[in-house]
Amino acid sequence: METTTTTTTSTSTKRCLVFAVNGQRFELFNVDPSTTLLQFMRSQTPFKSVKLSCGEGGCGACIVLLSKYDSVHDKVEDFSVNSCLTLLCSVNGCSITTAEGVGNSKDGFHPIQERFSGFHASQCGFCTPGMCVSLFAALVNADKTNRQEPCPGFSKLTVSEAEKSIAGNLCRCTGYRPIVDACKSFATDVDMEDLGFNSFWRKGESDEVKLGRLPPYNRKNATCVFPEFLKKETTMGANLDSEGYHWYSPVSLEQLQSLLQINEANDGTSMKIIVGNTGMGYYKELVRYDKYIDLRYIPELSIIRKDPTGIEIGAAVTISKAIEALKEENEVEFSQEAKLVFKKIADHMEKIASGFIRNSASVGGNLIMAQRKHFPSDIATILLSVDAILDIMTGQKREKLTLEEFLGRPPLESKSVLLSIKIPCWESSRDVSCDNYTKLLYETYRAAPRPLGNALPYLNATFSAQVSLCKNSTGLMLKNCRLVFGAYGTKHSIRAREVEKFLSGKLLSIGVLYEAIKLLETLVIPEDGTSSPAYRSSLAVGFLFEFLSPLIDSPVEISDGLLNGYNSTLLFKNSNQELDQFGQTKFPPLLSSSKQVIQLNNEYHPVGEPITKTGAILQASGEAIYVDDIPSPKNCLHGAFIYSTEPLARVKGIKFKPGLSPDGVIAVISFKDIPGVNLGSKTVLGTEPLYADELTEGAGQRIAFVVADTQKNADIAANLAVVVYDKENLEPPILSVEEAVERCSFFKVPPSLYPKQVGDLSKGMAEADHRILSAEIKLGSQYYFYMETQTALAVPDEDNCMVVYSSIQCPEFAHDTIARCLGVPGHNIRVITRRLGGGFGGKGVKAMAVATACAVAAYKLQRPVRIYVNRKTDMIMSGGRHPMKITYSVGFKANGKITALKLDILIDSGMFVDVSPIMPMHMLGALKKYDWGALSFDIKLCKTNLPSRAAMRAPGDVQASFIAEAVIEHVASALSMEVDSVRNINLHTHNSLDLFFASAAGEPLEYTLPSIWDKLANSSSFYHRTEMIKEFNRCHKWKKRGISRVPIVHEVAMRATPGKVSILRDGSIVVEVGGIEMGQGLWTKVKQMIAYALSLVKCGGTEDLLEKVRVIEADSLSMIQGGFTAGSTTSESSCEAVRLCCNILIERLVPLKERLLEQMGSVEWETLILQAYLNSINLSASTLYVPNSSTMRYLNYAAAVSEVEVNLITGETTNLRTDIIYDCGKSLNPAVDLGQIEGAYVQGIGFFMLEEYNTNSDGLVIEDSTWTYKIPTVDTIPKQFNVEILNSGNHKNRVLSSKASGEPPLTLAVSVHCATRAAVREARQQLLSWSGQNESDSTFCQLDVPATMPVVKELCGLDSIQKFLQWTIGKI
Ligand SMILES: Cc1cc2nc3c(=O)[nH]c(=O)nc-3n(C[C@H](O)[C@H](O)[C@H](O)COP(=O)(O)OP(=O)(O)OC[C@H]3O[C@@H](n4cnc5c(N)ncnc54)[C@H](O)[C@@H]3O)c2cc1C
Ligand code: FES
Ligand code: FES
Repeated sequence: METTTTTTTSTSTKRCLVFAVNGQRFELFNVDPSTTLLQFMRSQTPFKSVKLSCGEGGCGACIVLLSKYDSVHDKVEDFSVNSCLTLLCSVNGCSITTAEGVGNSKDGFHPIQERFSGFHASQCGFCTPGMCVSLFAALVNADKTNRQEPCPGFSKLTVSEAEKSIAGNLCRCTGYRPIVDACKSFATDVDMEDLGFNSFWRKGESDEVKLGRLPPYNRKNATCVFPEFLKKETTMGANLDSEGYHWYSPVSLEQLQSLLQINEANDGTSMKIIVGNTGMGYYKELVRYDKYIDLRYIPELSIIRKDPTGIEIGAAVTISKAIEALKEENEVEFSQEAKLVFKKIADHMEKIASGFIRNSASVGGNLIMAQRKHFPSDIATILLSVDAILDIMTGQKREKLTLEEFLGRPPLESKSVLLSIKIPCWESSRDVSCDNYTKLLYETYRAAPRPLGNALPYLNATFSAQVSLCKNSTGLMLKNCRLVFGAYGTKHSIRAREVEKFLSGKLLSIGVLYEAIKLLETLVIPEDGTSSPAYRSSLAVGFLFEFLSPLIDSPVEISDGLLNGYNSTLLFKNSNQELDQFGQTKFPPLLSSSKQVIQLNNEYHPVGEPITKTGAILQASGEAIYVDDIPSPKNCLHGAFIYSTEPLARVKGIKFKPGLSPDGVIAVISFKDIPGVNLGSKTVLGTEPLYADELTEGAGQRIAFVVADTQKNADIAANLAVVVYDKENLEPPILSVEEAVERCSFFKVPPSLYPKQVGDLSKGMAEADHRILSAEIKLGSQYYFYMETQTALAVPDEDNCMVVYSSIQCPEFAHDTIARCLGVPGHNIRVITRRLGGGFGGKGVKAMAVATACAVAAYKLQRPVRIYVNRKTDMIMSGGRHPMKITYSVGFKANGKITALKLDILIDSGMFVDVSPIMPMHMLGALKKYDWGALSFDIKLCKTNLPSRAAMRAPGDVQASFIAEAVIEHVASALSMEVDSVRNINLHTHNSLDLFFASAAGEPLEYTLPSIWDKLANSSSFYHRTEMIKEFNRCHKWKKRGISRVPIVHEVAMRATPGKVSILRDGSIVVEVGGIEMGQGLWTKVKQMIAYALSLVKCGGTEDLLEKVRVIEADSLSMIQGGFTAGSTTSESSCEAVRLCCNILIERLVPLKERLLEQMGSVEWETLILQAYLNSINLSASTLYVPNSSTMRYLNYAAAVSEVEVNLITGETTNLRTDIIYDCGKSLNPAVDLGQIEGAYVQGIGFFMLEEYNTNSDGLVIEDSTWTYKIPTVDTIPKQFNVEILNSGNHKNRVLSSKASGEPPLTLAVSVHCATRAAVREARQQLLSWSGQNESDSTFCQLDVPATMPVVKELCGLDSIQKFLQWTIGKI
């Protein structure tokens, strides 16, 4: 691929691909048409801010702003698109703006980037460029509107738009709240007081002061200048030299027909019609097409035509454009009903994918995917209900079909083209025989894990009906019903005709509704293999009930006028939801004002200051460099893993699928190519082979490494590889913990890592009034979902040396592993790590193998080799959290005091030990948060043939926190007591804490949990809200609320950590630490510590030292014994290490300073350092901080109150509010700690409520993409999120009295799960009452983790509606 960056217009431009990136011109010749914009930008341009994270449109890391010039109207259109699916040839004539183009360090940062930094909205920074571009696109478009001019300093964007602007962007670190605040700070209608903690102002300052401190914004900042040289290019798209690019952009139907004809005649060439190419995000075809036909320039496919009969939408019209057209004021006078229908369709379309996908995805492409491949389409469902008509062209033949006919046909031939879709006006099908009272009801529904979209629905539905008030009764009569259901595991959307027929002409009553529902149950049945089939069917019933029941409850009210804007909120009309003038629900902002309370501490200035994260602004502009951003050295090759899909089998060989020989493959490397020991990881706890030798021990195990000329070719080759297995005479694999027990297959836990039992279990059990025996819980896994997947680059050096750049949390261990694997001495290897795009434990042991695989390949081929593991492979190979099975027996008194707890825990460690032996210690550290009286446990690490599990943020602690709460809730349920009282009575006293934790318990004054517990009850109005919730639940049938207050005690341990501080001649300071910066703010805290510690030299200019410090990348040869960055304490250990270094330097500098003071009266830092150089004082100090063994372990305390609302129809749980108080000691940096608390908590919500990470029966991970794995998004976090960081004063054994914040807050998220369980309990009680049982429900409900919508709904009763109707009929 050739690139020129000339700014003159070349004579050849007419035939070549021309576009601009950040104003720079690019002309390309001979592009492979399957090249994506992202591939091009990352490999051929300096613009690395476009990050690859999922490659399938599901995360937003790769967003760019695309600008198109319309020469006819002299207008520029700007919109965000994902660059990972956008094909390069499709941007011909366009201008692209990346985060670097929005602002950068040379030309000046943009206020968006400055505010992201100042609102502490960037942690690892991998999502940040995409976030900034998403917001930029929203600003550009809002400021183009003719809305009222905003006040100076603001844009025309509204708060609601600001929140939604990043709805399709994933962030795994921050928890979103600060990102949303940064976005809202631009909104015209923002209340500045609502914006959260930031570095610009303090709460309470006036709006003028606040605005004055914000990096200024004006309209100029939201202008995207379209390069003049591009305007001069001839019409976009149509001018590509099709020979060179194999890319055709026909501009008429005739041209299209002849292209298709030629293709048909020309046997053997494959061709693909495309519009936005977003379909590739789902289908990820591996076939290479010989040519592409871009439909976007054919006028018939791009029209939007409105006439009194309806709206016709060209098939190539994007979903965004269709929404706009459906919503806009029309010149054509449509009826109220037609407008209502159009608006509802548009509202539903706004939940399809995310804004940036809708900006390129076409309506036609969606329907074709639904028709040909049974894609679970929303558009098919909503358009089926309005009898949309499709215009189809096959050769010369044109056909008009109803959508129903279209969907029902066999898959459309590849030569057929969908031209347009007509949405008829409701009038055109109106039954004129109906009387005047007739009104149209039209509603669409969608149940999906994310309310705002970016998640496929479990089921979608659209209903329409004409209703009329019967003259002789108060009832309503239904006519012309249309009931459409889709996406539930059906080939395509369907009409429930039998139910429609049944309802037509009937006077609505409970009985009729019941019969309709019974009929519907037999029709909406998901196909075999669909997940949660019963749940999906129950949604169909639920939505129909939601649609019709208000008509029975309040027919007169409805006929009196609400019909025009009828919507389902009628069902929830007591939910305090406001309606706007159209009768639509007025949605409050997604997130309401949250409170952050922080106590600052000046004692060790600038330690304790909430300074912004080092490098945040570079992260926002995309200039921060991650491993995959390092330019490829000359001759660089790329690798991809071939992994096992079998749990236990002999590997006989690897070949490529017949007839599909992959391009560019250089080598396939297996265990046979390893020069030293077959080692993929090595820690003190055990080893793991780099590649399976003769035997693979589990699905997902590395078998080989394909090396090819590009990453794309390597990935394709790995996909095409077929591993030949042989299972003859092998024992069956172990695929469950139960089987591991049967076959005594365990990993050993060294006695020093096995915690001690507490008290006398038999005595405790004997003291109990009640006992629960052998209750069981199962917990699943969780995937890290770091935004940057595993990556490394190995570069061979002279004399058998190797430099490896690795995204790893423990370079020291990768270093050792690589040396042994290559069979060279340690000093031949250098592992370098600058920053990680998220780690969360997943870039520990598993990252060693990635770095080692590259090193082995580079060593063998003597060429640089790199890998950027694709998301699917990463999800399959990385392991994730440990699943486990827990059996508990508990004894307790009648007042709820627990006297004894016995636990049998079977942990599935998978095929390799990894760091599993730390699990028992971690689990007990968190489990002992309550005084259990006596505590006895048996924890086994089961060795299975399942994925090898690794440590994930709060490993074992989060499961233990859950187990503790499950036990408490079980006891409360058995005693019919308030759960909160059972928690209260079992909280530790300092004495019992001492008994359970020995030396880690610290002094009585350090035990702050009881005061946090009470303080939180007050600050969150816990008791008052508990009462209000009772009232809410009494008044609401289909929504139930729950609230829960949960404490945590979380034990952590300090580890030995090195540090090195050097002062350069100009007074600047360079620092190396053992800890790795992965978003947690380690470098920032280290810088603050250096500035504080060196200021103790007490000379002039030390107040500016912070600016003089640079922490540099970790280099395993320069800084040995770096250890693991894990366990929450590496920041403080690194701080302590550099503090000790600074003390050494101060000791060396002070005598000189005293001498200079005497001579000169005053001395400045720069002078002091210069003199130190002249006097040959050693200005570099290094140390290994080794914590005191008696005080290295300590406890962290916090508590959370969460309130949720469960929708009993869909099982959706909304987190209404969370309040946290977290004891940080004297926080080293409260802004960083706040970010850790919020981010960890939201990751915990993922574990407890959303993220399913399962394997198939062979142990192969099945949730392996953003389509199936759903981390929290901006619409699934607490709507109100209040966090207080408690400064609990002096802790003499801690680093400057500070405490950890990285992991413990994650375990607080159990409060959301407990609150959900409380709401579910209410629902079950109600369900029982409908069965005629009014006594309280004494059975304990085990709510699974994650408590996804299907799980919650199942517990609330999949047939709750049927039960309710039966009960109601019984009463009549
Ligand atoms: C992350 C993500 C989330 C999504 N979420 C949802 C969702 O929640 N609900 C939902 O309904 N959809 C969803 N989609 C699907 C999305 O709507 C479709 O991918 C999109 O509409 C396809 O349009 P396109 O222009 O990109 O089609 P392309 O990808 O360009 O084409 C798709 C297919 O249709 C063919 N084709 C396209 N146009 C025509 C035509 N006019 N005539 C004949 N053949 C044609 C192509 O050859 C190709 O086979 C999602 C997509 C992504 C990437
Ligand atoms: S990488 Fe493009 S959306 Fe995820
Ligand atoms: S800061 Fe968003 S993913 Fe790390």
